[in-house]
Amino acid sequence: MAHIVSTRPLIDEGLSGVRDDHTLTVCDPPDGSTRSVDDLIALTDGADVLLSVLADPITEELFAARPELQMVAQYAVGVDNIDLDAAAAHDVAVTHTPDVLTDATADQAWALLLAAARRVPAADRYVREGRFERWETTLLMGTELSRKTLGIVGMGRIGTAVARRALGFGMEVVYHNRTRANPTVERQVNARYVGLDELLKTSDVVSLHCPHNEDSHHLLDAAAFANMKASALLVNTARGPVVDEAALVDALANGEIAGAGLDVFEEEPDVHPGLVEQERVVLAPHLGSATTGTRTRMAQMCVASITALLEGADHVPHRLV
Ligand code: DGY
Repeated sequence: MAHIVSTRPLIDEGLSGVRDDHTLTVCDPPDGSTRSVDDLIALTDGADVLLSVLADPITEELFAARPELQMVAQYAVGVDNIDLDAAAAHDVAVTHTPDVLTDATADQAWALLLAAARRVPAADRYVREGRFERWETTLLMGTELSRKTLGIVGMGRIGTAVARRALGFGMEVVYHNRTRANPTVERQVNARYVGLDELLKTSDVVSLHCPHNEDSHHLLDAAAFANMKASALLVNTARGPVVDEAALVDALANGEIAGAGLDVFEEEPDVHPGLVEQERVVLAPHLGSATTGTRTRMAQMCVASITALLEGADHVPHRLV
């Protein structure tokens, strides 16, 4: 019987598979606060498996302090909070939850895109505040999406799902990726491969779907915003640090771009105050995968990976290290 520690409560239904055979300790941080490495070291006393979320800093220090740890099962597709090289050096397996959250995250990108284009939060506030007194010809004017260009940065699973949805909106899709997508995928979603500069210059909406790593850190910086159309919208459901948030605030304030829909932030859970002040920015607290079905399937995937590893299976699903 192994000891599994989850750093956050997860949807219980998804965890049933592991409760019968192992000891599961579910932690609940006070006030939902972010865990430090020291907190994680304290929580993992005697743990064989750590069930982590993207806000948990999984570092060399943790692996060194807990040599008995066999596995980190990450309840997310992104693993930029985990030092994968350190995990490998300490012989700790790492798994994640790809695929199951693709559609939910693509939907969230579109929700933010539409909300920013048609000013949904501002309109909602307007009505709630009792300001709707008559129909007006120029009230809360937005932007239609048909025939506009959507630029997708990162044409992996989620980027492709976002592009597929654009077909229904009659948008032209261009994309940039480290490597060009398979021609069948390009045909299916009617997307054209371009360089990042061209994408930034020609897109009416730029939507980010690349992982955060050394190459993509601050990929969208002051120079990138200066390249974009003044009418453009930025959507980020990838990772906050892909965008230089201070440069984004300046670009919005100076009218270099028109608005943004942001699900992720550079220093989560903190949000740059300059973003909160901007009426044309729609904000969400990292909800890409936040549907009951998706979060349940993510928990089930973690359980499948944990069970396979603990049973010594030849193949541990969704293993990265
Ligand atoms: C992920 O899985 O990486 C998302 O950002 C959170 O669900």
